[in-house]
Amino acid sequence: EIHEQPSIIKDALRGRLTSEDTVNLEEMNLTPEQVRKFNRIYIVACGTAYYAGCVGKYFFEKVLGVPVEVDLASEFRYRGPILDDKSLVIAISQSGETADTLAAIRLAKQCGSTTAAVVNVVGSSLYRECDSLFHTKAGPEICVASTKAYITQVIGLYVMGVYLARARGTITAEQEKQFVREIRKFPEMAEKALETEAQIKEIAKDLAPKEHAFFLGRGLDYAVGLEGALKLKEISYIHAEAYAAGEMKHGPLALITKDTWVIVPVTQEHVREKTISNIKEMQARGATILAFQKEGDPSLADVVDYVVWVPKMDDLFMTVPTMIPLQLLAYWTSETLGREIDQPRNLAKSVTVE
Ligand code: M6R
Repeated sequence: EIHEQPSIIKDALRGRLTSEDTVNLEEMNLTPEQVRKFNRIYIVACGTAYYAGCVGKYFFEKVLGVPVEVDLASEFRYRGPILDDKSLVIAISQSGETADTLAAIRLAKQCGSTTAAVVNVVGSSLYRECDSLFHTKAGPEICVASTKAYITQVIGLYVMGVYLARARGTITAEQEKQFVREIRKFPEMAEKALETEAQIKEIAKDLAPKEHAFFLGRGLDYAVGLEGALKLKEISYIHAEAYAAGEMKHGPLALITKDTWVIVPVTQEHVREKTISNIKEMQARGATILAFQKEGDPSLADVVDYVVWVPKMDDLFMTVPTMIPLQLLAYWTSETLGREIDQPRNLAKSVTVE
């Protein structure tokens, strides 16, 4: 499923980008008047889908200029969110049957909000119940750990973000074209990202005996780190946590020792120097550092223990090429440990109860 991603991304984009480099999402069934009315967007989901939502929040706020909250569906439904007919509530789900996500959407409908689904399974409850739909077209996902579903959710949110921004008039026609040209590169970038596999396989042998790993990052690198940590913990059973890099000093730094691995995507230019100083703090405590860098950036090889080069895109879109090597890292670490990768212990593919 990791290797299917370049072709799955092509499927997910088919028909949604025009030859004039615009986004075509008529299928979402939203009028520009409706889109302009929204004064708040909520993204609700669980697990991997929630981490895709973290990317969505970042991108949406950049292009839409509307406050976007991303909520764990299990929290959203009990926290009394402020919902009305000017709210857009977007649920993300591979299965379309996750109990908490469905409950969140039903609550939003009761409050008169517009609901949208980024969903993979056609005909699922979410697919049937939401006002507006983006079908991710990832095909059946067999492995419990989500990979291609995540990538198509993230890509769906990019496409949707551009579409909504254009409808609201918060980006120009020229900006839309620039974004679409970048989005078109995803299949090729995913293919290139898979070329890191031989290197990742070797690195995974060194990570496998460790008990703890931290994933640090800032901005979109943090969003990617959250999903990278989930992938590693759920299939290798290594304890993995993701933190916003700037938070380490506020507590978790106490856990860093020479036995800790720290995995850091460093792809966001505007926070690069800040992340590097966080890396140095980890290094001073003896941690082993694995950095995922953007091709063309100055190498951090003199500061870190391993560098994996990720194909270069505009910073806003680096999530996709960065996530694929992180999936491979989880895969090969688990393979080295002899884990049951497709069916990790205690987990189910679809969580239809609370
Ligand atoms: O079907 P859903 O996307 O709603 O499932 C939500 C989570 O259970 C799911 O994303 C889970 O976290 C992943 N399978 C973990 O890899």
